[in-house]
Amino acid sequence: MKLIDLHSHILPNMDDGARDVETSAAMLQAALDQGVVHIAATSHYYSDRQSISDFLSARQTAYIKLLNKIHEKEIMYPQIGLGAEVYLTRGLSAREYLESLCYEGTNIILIELPYEPWGSWVYRELESIIVDRALTVLLAHPERYVSSPWNVKSLREYMQLPLLLQINADSFLSRSGRMILSKLGKFQKPWLLGSDCHNLKQRKNNLSEAAEAIEKYFGKGLTEKIERNTKRFFAAWGEND
Ligand SMILES: [Fe+2]
Repeated sequence: MKLIDLHSHILPNMDDGARDVETSAAMLQAALDQGVVHIAATSHYYSDRQSISDFLSARQTAYIKLLNKIHEKEIMYPQIGLGAEVYLTRGLSAREYLESLCYEGTNIILIELPYEPWGSWVYRELESIIVDRALTVLLAHPERYVSSPWNVKSLREYMQLPLLLQINADSFLSRSGRMILSKLGKFQKPWLLGSDCHNLKQRKNNLSEAAEAIEKYFGKGLTEKIERNTKRFFAAWGEND
């Protein structure tokens, strides 16, 4: 499988991911070792904590710093695409800057569901991002929320929307994770992969292990589906490979 990692925290000093540029470069190297050809740098963005201009300029500075480090070290690295993991807040769908948070070259936005009880506003925001803003929502690691019955009820409602699901590589590597994914599979939504790597240890890049586990436990059919989805939705990212 040609691996594209759609969720990572590799940029230095942006969030709870890479703490410095040395770690960032090592994480890129680790991604390359996993066979990742393209990696999305999706630093956390919280619209209620940071202005968009502060976020975008910090992201650009961190990106340039990382590129400089890579060139200085003369190491091979996967192509980097800028994006953001955007925390869903009330009113987010009306923010005029929403497009600037999409994966570069696409109209796809990675949305993280809130870590608070989900009110009816969550559905309305998702719907408005899709319908009023004409963006495609890629839901970050929905499998994380399936353990709670009241979340499952809401997720079932959200799944009526044309969402894409970003599954964390980790989830394929444990039996409990795979059981949750089997439930999630019933929603019949397109799946895409992300490592959600934050560091080099507990939350490292493990995309190739996940690719092996997908084939072993879910079969070649799912591998091919994920490949097709990646090609289809991230067509622009494959052009230079
Ligand atoms: Fe993340």
